[in-house]
Amino acid sequence: MLTKKIEKALNDQIVLEAYASNSYLAMASWCEGKGLRGATKFYYAQSDEERVHMLKLVKYVNASGGSANITAVKSPESSYKTLQETFEAALKQEKAVSQSINQLVELTFNDKDYTTHNFLQWYVQEQHEEEALFRSILDLFALADKDGKSLIIIDNEIMKIRNEVEAG
Ligand code: FEO
Repeated sequence: MLTKKIEKALNDQIVLEAYASNSYLAMASWCEGKGLRGATKFYYAQSDEERVHMLKLVKYVNASGGSANITAVKSPESSYKTLQETFEAALKQEKAVSQSINQLVELTFNDKDYTTHNFLQWYVQEQHEEEALFRSILDLFALADKDGKSLIIIDNEIMKIRNEVEAG
């Protein structure tokens, strides 16, 4: 059984994950409009993953005697100057999500809710992997020249990275 405080914190996390999903959907759409096939595939898949993160929380809250609230989500940023800028925004977003998860973990520990504490370990690991993923893509930009040819190469690399994630 969830305390009201933890139920609220989990509901706040549901909103964050929904926002992350919409945000990646907006980035996918922006990339699709630019003909960036690798980044488009990457961000559509990332949006789906964030929806899964949200759903896991919804189901956990409902299965634990609480009520998951599905609310409006603020509009994500939908215009960017460059592909690199999307990945910088993505890493910033992931860091914010990680911070929120860490606060949740601390809350469950302090409240001795070890079941939710245990449930959240999956998110701790996931955030670690996602931050590393976005950092590795930003490293590509640091390596590349700023001309159009490099952008195509980077986009192909992003496609490969996405395929590797899917292959596990
Ligand atoms: Fe589910 Fe990447 O935050």
